[in-house]
Amino acid sequence: KSETENYKIGFSQCISKDDWRKAMDHEMEVEASLYTEIELSIFQAHEDIEVQKSQIEFMIENEFDVIIISPLRPEPLVALVERAYDKGIPVIIVDRKIKSQKFTAFVGANNLDVGRNAAKYIASLNEKQSNILEIKGGDNSSPVIERHLGFHEIVYQEANMSVVESIRDNEIQTRIPQIIDSISVNPINYVFAFNDNIAYDAWKIAKSKGVEESIKFIGVDGLNGENNGIQLVENGVLAATILYPTGGDEAIKIAMKILRNENVLKDNILNTTVIDFRNAEIMNDQYDRINKHQKDIESQQKKIIEQEETFSTQSNILKLLVGL
Ligand code: FRU
Repeated sequence: KSETENYKIGFSQCISKDDWRKAMDHEMEVEASLYTEIELSIFQAHEDIEVQKSQIEFMIENEFDVIIISPLRPEPLVALVERAYDKGIPVIIVDRKIKSQKFTAFVGANNLDVGRNAAKYIASLNEKQSNILEIKGGDNSSPVIERHLGFHEIVYQEANMSVVESIRDNEIQTRIPQIIDSISVNPINYVFAFNDNIAYDAWKIAKSKGVEESIKFIGVDGLNGENNGIQLVENGVLAATILYPTGGDEAIKIAMKILRNENVLKDNILNTTVIDFRNAEIMNDQYDRINKHQKDIESQQKKIIEQEETFSTQSNILKLLVGL
């Protein structure tokens, strides 16, 4: 690269609509803004696998220096990811996995542990009998598969825990009222939903049936902000949420290491933990600090740009004055 040319990092984001995805994008933008030598482009695939494919093709054709992908599903992108990798373009996979080992680095939390943590949390409450409704995400992405496996692995070991129903998030409006009405002998006393939004929707349905007090709801993600996981725990809507970090800033850090020819690990596994009433406030404070840092960085950068603009106008005036 010449001194004036920037490195091009492209990110193909599979889903755009929820706060967790927005947080991932934002983390990437803030982290990328710390390095003057890179230019980050974020492409939104809006849950359309064909769109995501064309974004990866675009990045390959336009010789991006690093390609970051959060893949919608594990199989359909394999050929393209392998094409990029074989061409020598570093590929970083975030959050969801693909069915290939031909990529440079993966960054994300271990979703088996996410499922295990949810089940261990229920086990730790020592109920005589825990009847669980599992609400999976709507697709067969790796987090859905792995959260399910991890959760069932622990439930299987606990004599007093059982998953009485397992449904998908798109079935909740019809199925939850039916389940509540039909199971009268051993009613559901836990809901494990694969993200906080689903858990909150399930809680609303239970509330409309007047049974929300007798069920403990557990979600995943643990974001801060209005009606997100941490606040829902603080409000007592959720009993717990399992923290699922987005990996946005780590992905950019890894991309920088690659561009600087430093060694990177293939698997970069982020920590997950249980957030319940005991630590929700601390987690919230931590997020507030991070957000404040991010805002400080953004406002400093704005000032730098303003100063640069003032400087260039001033030097233009100066040039005019001295007749250059
Ligand atoms: C957001 C989301 C999160 C979840 C992740 C899994 O789009 O559904 O709630 O933890 O994706 O990939």
